[in-house]
Amino acid sequence: MRSTALLAILIAALLLLPRWGASATPRQIVIQFSHVTAAHTPKGMGAERFKQLAEQRTGHRVKVEIYPNSQLYKDSEELQALYLGSVQMLAPSLGKLGLTGVHGFEVFDLPYLIPDRRALERVTDGPVGRALLKRLEPHGFVGLAYWENGFKLMSANRPLRMPQDFRGLKFRIQSSKILDAQMRQLGAIPQVLAFSEIYQALQTGMIDGSENTASNMFTQKHFEVQSHATLSHHGYIGYAVIVNKRFWEQLPPDIRAELESAMRDATLYVNAVAREQNEAALAAMKASGQIDIHVPTARERAAWAEALRPVQDEMAERVGSDLVADIRAAIASETSDAH
Ligand code: LMR
Repeated sequence: MRSTALLAILIAALLLLPRWGASATPRQIVIQFSHVTAAHTPKGMGAERFKQLAEQRTGHRVKVEIYPNSQLYKDSEELQALYLGSVQMLAPSLGKLGLTGVHGFEVFDLPYLIPDRRALERVTDGPVGRALLKRLEPHGFVGLAYWENGFKLMSANRPLRMPQDFRGLKFRIQSSKILDAQMRQLGAIPQVLAFSEIYQALQTGMIDGSENTASNMFTQKHFEVQSHATLSHHGYIGYAVIVNKRFWEQLPPDIRAELESAMRDATLYVNAVAREQNEAALAAMKASGQIDIHVPTARERAAWAEALRPVQDEMAERVGSDLVADIRAAIASETSDAH
């Protein structure tokens, strides 16, 4: 009897052994990466590339789960979720980072401040860009990288040739005081809406127009519910990839180093494909025949720039006049020519 009981205990112990062994292997780290754009956009493609590289380079000790298209959270909710640790990684547009209390990022929304991609990279890849990311840390976030999207078009159901064409139109804006001032300056009525709500708001006439990159207008189908767009390039949309600070600091240092290297390579990839993604989206919208895309004349461009100039002065204090001056200096430190 006793020896049978002993045998049973021994067998049970042996059966348990592999479990003990398994529990000694490190637990897989999950990074939930939530974002609001479609998978086939610069941001969506960057998230996918980061996932591939991060999983590969950590020998699958890290798993990256991507939730695109506002599947988990809309614009402002996602920042709250990251802060609370409900997700670990986001890539909000720069202006939306104002919602964290760090208003400096809104500088990227200033109309006509950044003339082209080369100028932009002078800012984001240099000391000004790095210092801005650092400002996030006291707010519970770590900024890992800048990801590009592109320059904006304005769209509506009427031609937008001259500043007066905006008068009285309700325009969706991202949550940004600068964009609010920009629309008011044009005589339009700004309305903050989450990215995922634009299509329906345009379709039902709740708003008349919107501004976005070609890639976003195409993948969110805004071109199906807007008759006209102007290739104004009056402003820029790009992202900061951010993580929850506590989560990031608790990672084993070797894992963090691999993730940083995956992020560096994913960033090079995004910034290389962003321009071609936007060009392809623009070509597809033109080919659809559903929207008339106007390229402004020199006279129209000058009139827009003139009409929007006061926004830079008016908003300098909010974003910091030193920051605006530093950005101008970074841009001026090299003459640039490419969009
Ligand atoms: C928007 O809200 O218009 C965009 O910035 C969304 C995005 O992340 O590109």
